[in-house]
Order: sequence, then structure tokens, then C-alpha cells
Amino acid sequence: MLLSGRGRVEIRQGQVEILGAILSKGASFKVRLGRQIPVFSPEVKSIVTGEGFFRWKVIKEDPIPSSWRATIDELLARPNSTVVIVGQTDSGKSTLSQFLLNSALNFSTTVGLIDADIGQTDLGPPGFVAASLVRRKVVDLRSIRPIAMEFIGALSPSKAFEESIDKVKKIKESLLHYNPDYIIINTDGWLDNEGIVHKKKLIEKIRPDIVIALRQDQEENLIKEGSYKLITLNPSPHILKRTQVVRRLSRLANIARFLKGAEAKVIEKENVLSLENHEPQIGDVAAVYENDVVKGIALYGGVVEGKKIFYTRVNSFTKIVVSNINAREIIDLVKSKA
Ligand SMILES: Nc1ncnc2c1ncn2[C@@H]1O[C@H](COP(=O)(O)OP(=O)(O)OP(=O)(O)O)[C@@H](O)[C@H]1O
Ligand SMILES: [Mg+2]
Repeated sequence: MLLSGRGRVEIRQGQVEILGAILSKGASFKVRLGRQIPVFSPEVKSIVTGEGFFRWKVIKEDPIPSSWRATIDELLARPNSTVVIVGQTDSGKSTLSQFLLNSALNFSTTVGLIDADIGQTDLGPPGFVAASLVRRKVVDLRSIRPIAMEFIGALSPSKAFEESIDKVKKIKESLLHYNPDYIIINTDGWLDNEGIVHKKKLIEKIRPDIVIALRQDQEENLIKEGSYKLITLNPSPHILKRTQVVRRLSRLANIARFLKGAEAKVIEKENVLSLENHEPQIGDVAAVYENDVVKGIALYGGVVEGKKIFYTRVNSFTKIVVSNINAREIIDLVKSKA
């Protein structure tokens, strides 16, 4: 069953598989707006919808293409490998990352996950590259808590070509200290001519063992096989494309979840930097640093009595860097709870 909508779903009987994670009777999970969840079950009546609104489609085949399942053997054949996933927007990168993550946890204890898709990230807030060490299978990538973040301050790496690559490399190196069994890296969907140059360079610097390319068109030689194993997969025929409005709403919800419990903080002007010297606007997304380590996110709240106000849940910081990613729509929500 392909389930989309926004609400909560409960498993009524038996077991279902969601992208490699098994859920049993009584388990429940959320379906986020704009997300379609493939729920694989021998019996449709196993699922009962709870509150919310849903759309669903019953399909006869396994929603995970057999070519996707076959990639698990490639992981098994290469212990301790790093996998980079590339593909255009709406090609299924996040879905494949989640499936690989859950599947790898069948035969490993710790999997490192890096979300470098700064526009549509699930692990960190938009504009941040985030990483985590995952030990349990997940139904939703957003349920994973990041352990390290780097700030890019843009929604596309085209605005920060080199920096976006260097920061993924840096975060990968920090994950290596924990000796994960695998590292899975999801990337952004920028794949026009310049975007391909960016992905090639990223791959050169990251030195993955496996690159998985999800192809929508038959572009030849997207990324040539090098010192890594290149696997090309076809996207699922059941892709649900997201509109710009849904993407924006998803981004705002993603920012809001990192600001739950945020408080207004006053920052001395000399500790506030601004990317590309832009004049901060109310609702701008900022990164909160303590001694050059990213501690979290803040929203710019304006000037009060000559001091800059930020909403954040980080308590101890030395510097704030403001980007021109703006989330003005949620500033009142954040303020009302602060
Ligand atoms: N194998 C599949 N079965 C059912 N639905 C799928 C499958 N693969 C992807 N989808 C659906 O298609 C949509 C797009 O997939 P996904 O979000 O993984 O793509 P993406 O490449 O990460 O997109 P973005 O560029 O926005 O990050 C999602 O709603 C997802 O649930
Ligand atoms: Mg994605």
C-alpha cells in the first residue's frame, strides 16, 4: 500500500515492512505532509488509519524494486564502506537512503548517516549538513537525532560550491572516529551540467566505495565508475512528486521542530555575522556556534533596545551566523512558545 497524507496510522494485525523496518500489531507511525510511505504487507487489512487525512493506493508488487534489494548484497560484500547516493530532485534518494540504512542494520550495529541534501534535508534543519550514528531502524528519517552539523546557509550547493563539499568531507571524517559499520550519504538533486561537476568533485573528495545513481532520464555517463563501484538504479515507478508549496511547508515544519522550546536570546552585535553581508531580516535562519562548533539553529527576531534578538534553544554560544534562508511564517509560532 502506498500511503500519503498527514496523520497517524496504526497496524491492526500481523506485520508490515516499511522500507526495511518491520512493524507489528499495535505499532503506529506518522505520515508527514507530502510524503508517501510504501507499506508492504501480505494483507491489506493489517493497517488501520488513525486521525488525519489519507490517500492510499494498493499495488500488487513489492514497492521496493528488486534492483534496490539487490544493492544489499553489494553492501554485504563491502564491509565498512561509504555509500553516496545521487539523483535528481524527486528521484527517491531519501527513500533509498532509508531503505539502505534499515537494511544495513540487519547485519551491522552502527550505521553513519549524512544528509547533505541541504534544501530537502531530513536529518538536520534546511541549510545544514547533518550527521548521525544510527543503531535502530526507523520509519521516518526525521526521528533520528543529529550528532553533528555543519552550516552552509543556502538551500542549494550552487550557492556554496566548494564549501558544501568541504563540509560533507569534514562531517564524514568526524563520523569515522566512531567506527561505523557503514556510512550512507544522501546528496542534493542539483544535477544539471554544473551540478554534475559538483557531484563529481564531491565524490572525488569523499572517496566512497559505492556510488548509487538513481536515474530518471537515460543521461549517459552521469558519473563514470572510478575507484568505486557504480550502481545505477531506476527510480520507483510510484514516485510522488512534491510541489514547491509542499516543499516549502515541509522546510518550515523542519525548521520548527528544531526550535521547540526555543527562548529569546540577546546577542551582542559583534558576535553576529551575516553570510554575504546581507542585512538580517526577521525570520532569517541562523546557525549558533560555540567555539566554531555548530550547536543548533536560531531564527532572527529583530532589534530590541539596540540589541539583536534570536530565538534558539541553544544556551551556550559564542557566535551566530545569519543566512538569507527565511522562515518568517513561523516566527510568531516560535515567539508564542518562547
Ligand atoms: N520505492 C518507492 N515506493 C513508493 N514510493 C516511493 C518510492 N521511492 C520514492 N517514493 C516516493 O516518492 C517521493 C519522492 O521520494 P524521495 O523523497 O525519496 O525523493 P528525493 O530524491 O529524496 O527527493 P528530494 O529531491 O525532494 O529530496 C516520496 O514521497 C517517496 O515516498
Ligand atoms: Mg530527499
